[in-house]
Amino acid sequence: MSDNLRKSVTRDDSSNLDQTLRPQTWEDYIGQTKTKENLRILLTAARERGHAAEHILLYGPPGLGKTTLAHLIAKTLGTNMRTTSGPAIERVGDLAAILTNLSPGDVLFVDEIHRLSKSIEEILYPAMESGVLDIIIGKGPSARTVQLDLPPFTLVAATTRISMLSAPLRSRFSGGTFRLEFYSNDEIASILTHSAQVLNIDAKPEIMLSIAKRCRATPRTANYLLKRCRDMAQLENCDLNSEVVEKTFSLLEIDHMGLGNLDRAVLDVIVNKFNGGPVGLNTIAAATGEEQSTIEDVVEPYLIRQGLIERTPRGRTANTEAYRLFEVN
Ligand SMILES: Nc1ncnc2c1ncn2[C@@H]1O[C@H](COP(=O)(O)OP(=O)(O)OP(=O)(O)O)[C@@H](O)[C@H]1O
Ligand SMILES: [Mg+2]
Repeated sequence: MSDNLRKSVTRDDSSNLDQTLRPQTWEDYIGQTKTKENLRILLTAARERGHAAEHILLYGPPGLGKTTLAHLIAKTLGTNMRTTSGPAIERVGDLAAILTNLSPGDVLFVDEIHRLSKSIEEILYPAMESGVLDIIIGKGPSARTVQLDLPPFTLVAATTRISMLSAPLRSRFSGGTFRLEFYSNDEIASILTHSAQVLNIDAKPEIMLSIAKRCRATPRTANYLLKRCRDMAQLENCDLNSEVVEKTFSLLEIDHMGLGNLDRAVLDVIVNKFNGGPVGLNTIAAATGEEQSTIEDVVEPYLIRQGLIERTPRGRTANTEAYRLFEVN
């Protein structure tokens, strides 16, 4: 790779946009007031006692700030954070290696914890509860269990799918289980104002608010849209104004509610193809050509929050609001 190319590759901030814009302090972490307050008490008390904080579970749709919170938790405790994820821990030995290498008080962040296998989960129970690791050495009649003491640690786990966690695992998060909420337009506008400062973009309040209204109440999407609007302004050689914003959204096919192609495709299946439902998740997935998990994790939470669709035991149904959307268009 030439030097110039290498520079341009490393300088591009799109790949690590999350890191660049990730809040480094609690003040910059906007919204989620209840969760923040609960964590502040839990973490301060643990630090004052000189103990590792109890285990914490964070859940909610993608891009709402779970990983960011985990970083802030470690920072507040003044400890190191080790990061891994459910699918990365394939064998019992992987988890044992991670746990035995922790320093006292460390935060272990396990992302996508719902993808941990059953056998690994069972090793995690005693580790979380009593700080020990039970390892079976050998096979058959000569097999024996060795118990290792672990350094005290705080498990911070994140998931987009709390329903996939087994009850025994959920109950072991003694520090609490916190659900991250979608953000209000004003909260997103403050996040965007901060991001605009970091990215050196002139941030007019009305422009920030207009982007906030189209980001599906999600900070990551808001930051992504801000950057796309900035790109457009750069190419048009003008300020970040309302025309630029409108042009960007129409190019990205994001409508006045912030709904994108996939959101509209899902609504179209329920409203038009299946007369308002109920429609099963697998049918929606097949009809839109998307993974079930994407529809469940990414698309549905926002549509439900907007009152457009509902989850019923027989499938997904559309509300009047969803029908209205197709009348308008
Ligand atoms: N409360 C917040 N205040 C300011 N910025 C935020 C906040 N929450 C999230 N962000 C921004 O959104 C980005 C995405 O957040 P984060 O990576 O923490 O989401 P996540 O919940 O871990 O998503 P995923 O489920 O996809 O892992 C962050 O890098 C940060 O820039
Ligand atoms: Mg994350």
